[in-house]
Amino acid sequence: MEAEGIINRMGFNNLGVDNLVENVKKANFDGIIGINIGKNKDTPIEKGAEDYIICMEKVYEHAGYIAVNISSPNTPGLRSLQYGEALDELLAELKAKQAELAEKHGKYVPLALKIAPDLSDDEIGQICDSLIKNKIDGVIATNTTLDRSVVEGMKHANEAGGLSGRPVQSRSTEVVRLLAKNLDGKLPIIGVGGIDSFVSAKEKLMAGASLVQVYSGFIYHGPKLVKDIVKNL
Ligand SMILES: Cc1cc2nc3c(=O)[nH]c(=O)nc-3n(C[C@H](O)[C@H](O)[C@H](O)COP(=O)(O)O)c2cc1C
Repeated sequence: MEAEGIINRMGFNNLGVDNLVENVKKANFDGIIGINIGKNKDTPIEKGAEDYIICMEKVYEHAGYIAVNISSPNTPGLRSLQYGEALDELLAELKAKQAELAEKHGKYVPLALKIAPDLSDDEIGQICDSLIKNKIDGVIATNTTLDRSVVEGMKHANEAGGLSGRPVQSRSTEVVRLLAKNLDGKLPIIGVGGIDSFVSAKEKLMAGASLVQVYSGFIYHGPKLVKDIVKNL
């Protein structure tokens, strides 16, 4: 579509963590594999941490890092884990589990928290405090947005779901900038959201990201995009 965006409302419609682990074992891939975990739709939010713990236990030894997704807009209530005490408690539990698993497997697997673009400056500041306090290893910004202002008036703009691709590019970069300001180098930022060229990848890095990820850009530009970005960096 002309906006080069995607609206998805998939939720976590996969065959579950055991199936994922089998797939990863078969993958035979030498690079770093980040495994993204989220709670089940039918788990009440107050028991959400249990799902993350189960996933962590199962994926730990197969992961290069674990992305803790509390920002998908398609699992009702999930984003409430981004705030205040709920976040602090979740991060403390995950950090304790990481120490236990590191000991058990003789391997330290970093934890990165993945956040939404739809947060106020104050909320981003509070998330940073919690990340530092709980010694989380990294932060990924951002997931998809519920905001439609950039695509207002376009044909599918009001479809339900999370919007990604070029329409979220500038907000994601802004969130990276706010994180960098608050974190002051204490933990690395992985920038994601609307990266569709070398220039937009560079913008994330200049805003304070140490690494970048690409998703929707693949749909519009194909795998050649990665080569273009890497060649020019
Ligand atoms: C079809 C689709 C499925 C996605 N599924 C997940 C997911 O399961 N977990 C997650 O953390 N983010 C998920 N995302 C969000 C992306 O990882 C990424 O954070 C977001 O789309 C912004 O980057 P982009 O503009 O490069 O796509 C999904 C995005 C799309 C388009």
